[in-house]
Amino acid sequence: MGDFDIGAVTRRGFLASGVGATFAAGAPARAEGRSLQSLTLTAAASRAMLRGPGEPDTGLWTYDGVEPGPLIRLRQGRPARIEVNNGLPEETTVHWHGVRVPNAMDGVPGLTQPPIPPGGRFTYEFTPPDAGTFWYHSHDDGLVQIGRGLVGPLIVEEATAVAVDRDLPWMFGDWRLRADGELAAGFGNMMEDAMAGHVGGLVTLNGRAEAVQPVRAGERVRIRLINGALARMMALRFEGHRPLVVAFDGQPCEPFEPADGRLTLGPAMRIDVVLDMTGTTGRRYRVVDDFYDGLAYVAATLAYSPEVATSPARPREPVVLPPNPLPAPDLASAERRDIVIQGGMMGGGGMMGLGGMGGKATPGLGGGAVWAINGMSMTGDGAAGMAPLMTFKRGRSVVLTLKNRTAWWHPMHLHGHSFRVLTRNGVAVPHRQWQDTVLLAPRDAVECAFVADNPGDWMLHCHVMNHQVSGLMTVLRVA
Ligand code: C2O
Ligand code: CU
Ligand code: CU
Repeated sequence: MGDFDIGAVTRRGFLASGVGATFAAGAPARAEGRSLQSLTLTAAASRAMLRGPGEPDTGLWTYDGVEPGPLIRLRQGRPARIEVNNGLPEETTVHWHGVRVPNAMDGVPGLTQPPIPPGGRFTYEFTPPDAGTFWYHSHDDGLVQIGRGLVGPLIVEEATAVAVDRDLPWMFGDWRLRADGELAAGFGNMMEDAMAGHVGGLVTLNGRAEAVQPVRAGERVRIRLINGALARMMALRFEGHRPLVVAFDGQPCEPFEPADGRLTLGPAMRIDVVLDMTGTTGRRYRVVDDFYDGLAYVAATLAYSPEVATSPARPREPVVLPPNPLPAPDLASAERRDIVIQGGMMGGGGMMGLGGMGGKATPGLGGGAVWAINGMSMTGDGAAGMAPLMTFKRGRSVVLTLKNRTAWWHPMHLHGHSFRVLTRNGVAVPHRQWQDTVLLAPRDAVECAFVADNPGDWMLHCHVMNHQVSGLMTVLRVA
């Protein structure tokens, strides 16, 4: 299989979107001189060469005919208008994951908007308050629609350019393919839903397996890692390099080098790293994912060109991203609540919890529930009339303690807000980490704090899509 330039797909995807030159992909291109950022996305069936040229291609559902969808670049604090056309045979919505949008623009079917019918359209309008790395995806029939490819990267650019030579979005996908290249039938069943979810066997980077990233010795790049998989956890190591973590889920942190060099990403999570290309010209370095014991594989390859970088040598101080306007929670006065995650399969094969603790499903929504939050299972992708589990007064500081009482990993995601991760299992979490999706290992307890300042009904759910649709979901109201 030939080398594949990751940059090229981003660019092609971008051009196909018809967004226009002001959104040109490729770093540090900036959208100058327009206050309204306007674009169109069309969700429809298309085909993609996930395995590369010369291999059978795959029938997917995509945005604008490319997998992942076109790279959307918006500017912080500038209004955006995104018209979504539904060319699918079923209804859909789009969720702007991690962007603190007004509730009516959050893309949760029934709860925040009527779903977009086949042939219909909906215009999303919001002004992104935070710069950073985000993504967009379907929030309707999400297990199937994300599973078939309805995902894409979303970058909100800082008002002032960050001093790196190149900016590289790396969006990972995970697929279970048949020998003929088509998606294996079904994205879940009771068993898969109650365990690790639909983990595939083919990992793609920007839509291509065995991706190769061309680099030049001496350059400094920002890589925006995005886990766009349905269920696969990742732990990436850059062989021969020392990535500096500068942001989680779009929100800047205190820059640090992870002690073990591992970058752990549950589904929906993002990590921005700054990487100095200190390798040898002409050499190749592997980026290895070893999250699952005994199943390590090469997720990407850095390929050094024979030349050194032509850009002038920069002083190599650590990159510090400008802060986003996040309200600081007042921990002393905060309202403290527990979010208890229950259910799933135990090691021995029996179901945990649900029956015995009197778990009940939301009427009409509870079919096939195998998980619960505080004894209650909301299933599916969102619906009208989901009663909130908790209501917070607008402006209130909140500390949620997420308690994983299951034998499985859960990347827990809150819509409409970013939260500061305070402690994990009683130990303070360093580096000022703000996230919108926090990964809980089995039995973990994690304390998160935020100001409930965005009014509306907001989803809180696991982003292993099998878990979400089978009960690991609830609604928090800010009123
Ligand atoms: Cu990215 Cu409700 O999800
Ligand atoms: Cu979200
Ligand atoms: Cu989960």
